[in-house]
Amino acid sequence: MENPVKKRVLSMVQSTGPFTLGNYLGALKNFVRLQDEYDCVYALADLHAITVRQEPASLRKYTLQGYAMLLAMGIDLEKSIFFLQSQVPEHAQLAWILNCYTQFGELSRMTQFKDKSQKHADNINAGLFTYPCLMAADILLYQADYVPIGEDQRQHLELARDVAGRFNGIYSQTFTVPEGIIPKAGARVMSLQDPTKKMSKSDENVNACVFVEDDPDTILRKFKRAKTDSGSEVALGEGKDGVNNLIGIFCAVTGETPEQVARDFSGKGYGDFKVAVAEAVIEALRPIQARYRQLLEDKGYLERCYTENAPKAQAIARRTLQKVMRKVGFVPLGK
Ligand code: TYM
Repeated sequence: MENPVKKRVLSMVQSTGPFTLGNYLGALKNFVRLQDEYDCVYALADLHAITVRQEPASLRKYTLQGYAMLLAMGIDLEKSIFFLQSQVPEHAQLAWILNCYTQFGELSRMTQFKDKSQKHADNINAGLFTYPCLMAADILLYQADYVPIGEDQRQHLELARDVAGRFNGIYSQTFTVPEGIIPKAGARVMSLQDPTKKMSKSDENVNACVFVEDDPDTILRKFKRAKTDSGSEVALGEGKDGVNNLIGIFCAVTGETPEQVARDFSGKGYGDFKVAVAEAVIEALRPIQARYRQLLEDKGYLERCYTENAPKAQAIARRTLQKVMRKVGFVPLGK
């Protein structure tokens, strides 16, 4: 599975709830696509999840469901490593070290920290602040060349690149400096109720966010209620955030270009287009949902998969961590 010729891809997703259409189109769809060309390592970021308070039973449930869902989407364990972050302790160990090579000012500039500390004003914990160091550790432990992410993680990836470059500069070449893979369409799926805001699973408005596991009627209802402007032309345009978002979703799902969409829907109204977007999403998710339901039935199989994959990930992570520890000056255990 570890192939020195192939470049390495690494990415993760938090297990704080069901995955959204934004997660799928921005990142998870790429996880699956990249498996043939690259040596891929994926994980559920359960350590990241506790930067916001989680009910223990829910965290466990969402982690297992997330594992099943990514397998259902097509993560292939013959090709890729797919594990649970908390089962590979090297992540926390390298994160600590990288904390000491990251400046307070750099972390203070992270827009996600600013947003989340506003949203969770009663729990602005140190983990929320240093979260990008853990994410940098996730990436750098595997010497990743590429990181498939949505637009909202770009700033964190930039920080990982900066920290890698800084460490390499001090101690000689240690980490591969990673590059992002951000899709053309779907990199920033917006809320269906307020298309100036990112689609997010924590949105209070139930119609704002489509979940990958939503049933067809729910998906259709959410798209029918999507906020659009008072015009009727199905084409990209300024001040048409709602329609632009729907076109982005449609293109990400079908592979069409916005120009094709404008041609195909010329003379038809927003109403027809909303139904078409919903149908495209429903059809794309149908086979995933069917496999997901089957996988969830087989807890034993899921357990075998993540149990076998943790040591595979750890073997790679450990090599990098040992190299880092030697360079920093820690005394290694005697033989
Ligand atoms: P998370 O769990 O918030 O999201 C997982 C992935 O989904 C993308 N995404 C979106 N893309 C388009 N439109 C949206 N509305 C949308 N919402 C989410 C995210 O950009 C992300 O790629 N810190 C990360 C998880 C992580 C990670 C890593 C990622 C931990 N370690 C190492 C890459 C490499 C996060 O919270 O993503």
